[in-house]
Amino acid sequence: MQTEDVFRHILSELCTFLKKNNENYNWVGIYVLKSGKLELECYEGEKTDHEIISLGDGLCSLAVLKNEIVNEADVTSNPKYLACFPSTRSEIVVPIRLGGKAIGEIDIDSDRKGVFTEMDETFLSDVADRISKLVEYFYRE
Ligand code: SME
Repeated sequence: MQTEDVFRHILSELCTFLKKNNENYNWVGIYVLKSGKLELECYEGEKTDHEIISLGDGLCSLAVLKNEIVNEADVTSNPKYLACFPSTRSEIVVPIRLGGKAIGEIDIDSDRKGVFTEMDETFLSDVADRISKLVEYFYRE
């Protein structure tokens, strides 16, 4: 067993836990920045075709490039949105930072419009801060 396996397992369990404990969280994933692309490290929910996202594409890129939370209440109204699941109506992307720099993100899709509140933003930012050291392990410049 490698350290990498342990860290991936913990992050994967986190995705499972977050989805299981919030009925509005229909898909939960963690993307990590690797050589200029966002790679899906782990997730809970349906399989997505977007396991690797080029920086510039989608709300996922926006969160990392702007280094701020993207909270989209209605994905159909946002031309930057990269569709993964037909059922998704809203999405929140929360940067995971290391020394202030975004190195990855927590990405959550919901089948309901406008469900992500300031409480979700605060809670997920707190989680992101606390998993930063685990995510650093997968981060590659
Ligand atoms: N919707 C995202 C792509 C990732 S999926 O939601 C899993 C985006 O716009 O970047």
